[in-house]
Amino acid sequence: MDELKSKYLDLIAKASDAAALEEIRVAAVGKKGEVSLKMRELGKMTPEERQLEGPRLNALKDEINAALVAKKSALEDAALEERLKAEWLDVTLPARDRHVGSIHPVSQVWEECTAIFADMGFAVAEGPQIESDWYNFDALNIPGHHPARAEMDTFYTHRSEGDTRPPHVLRTHTSPVQIRSMEAQGAPIRIICPGRVYRADYDQTHTPMFHQVEGLAIDRDISMANLKWVLEEFFSAFFGTHVETRFRASHFPFTEPSAEVDIQCSFEGGTVKVGEGNDWLEVLGSGMVHPSVLRAGGIDPDAWQGFAFGIGIDRLAMLKYGIPDLRAFFESDLRWLRHYGFSALQVPTLHGG
Ligand code: PHE
Repeated sequence: MDELKSKYLDLIAKASDAAALEEIRVAAVGKKGEVSLKMRELGKMTPEERQLEGPRLNALKDEINAALVAKKSALEDAALEERLKAEWLDVTLPARDRHVGSIHPVSQVWEECTAIFADMGFAVAEGPQIESDWYNFDALNIPGHHPARAEMDTFYTHRSEGDTRPPHVLRTHTSPVQIRSMEAQGAPIRIICPGRVYRADYDQTHTPMFHQVEGLAIDRDISMANLKWVLEEFFSAFFGTHVETRFRASHFPFTEPSAEVDIQCSFEGGTVKVGEGNDWLEVLGSGMVHPSVLRAGGIDPDAWQGFAFGIGIDRLAMLKYGIPDLRAFFESDLRWLRHYGFSALQVPTLHGG
């Protein structure tokens, strides 16, 4: 019996996996195992012998079973330990690249403008891109024969034969939204309108579709002084540095007086720097809203007055972010978009800059 005991305890200790252990169990305490066969022999013994051998055999069986259980759990622990080592995960590895799109510089500047003007109390207004002849021209004091119509290189829609109504146009500027907003809200009013505009023109600084942000402020006693302050405030916030402006007398049919506005810049070293130097760059048209325009919008010009301006968003983006060719804005070249684009999480705010 001692032989059996040392034989099986030794085998159990040396078993290297669950399958080997199972074989040992069957050989020792299985139905036809050595220990089980010995137990059957008890029947042939005398009662005295049985009383002696019975407990010894039972003890042996228990001891082998206990050794099997202990070994089994030791093997399981070891296997788990192995797995944990093999399946170890390095959570300090950098995350995998996920390709995300970028915010187009025009969208970014659009949002920047909106944030700055919103801070000065301007609400955002919108109008259609396919506009009637009336809103795009007549209501803005540009009658049918006016040369401004030809100058704007307008895209016209097609009317079917026999239809004598004037064709619609792709709006040539955001100014028609002035009229729509006056009609909808009356005075006083303080709005900006960022949006797409269209003119048949194409070179390094012109594309057939581009973007403007229109401004309109009407109240009892708004003057050119307010216009100048609002624009200087805007440019300084937009470029992040104090920017001098220069107002040049000009002419627009829808403003009187009218001014084109230049911002201070330097062209030294082949790059444009806004807010320094002695050169000037034209960025917008503006003026006091013409009485006829107020009247077209349903506002009494004897009681109300105000200013309007129209800035080129694309031009601003080129200046602020050093983009030399406007046409690239609309070519959808991925390399360009990745280079000049912005993170979607970089939402422009006044406090964020
Ligand atoms: N609508 C003019 C343009 O597109 C700009 C402008 C807007 C001028 C408002 C004066 C007032 O050129």
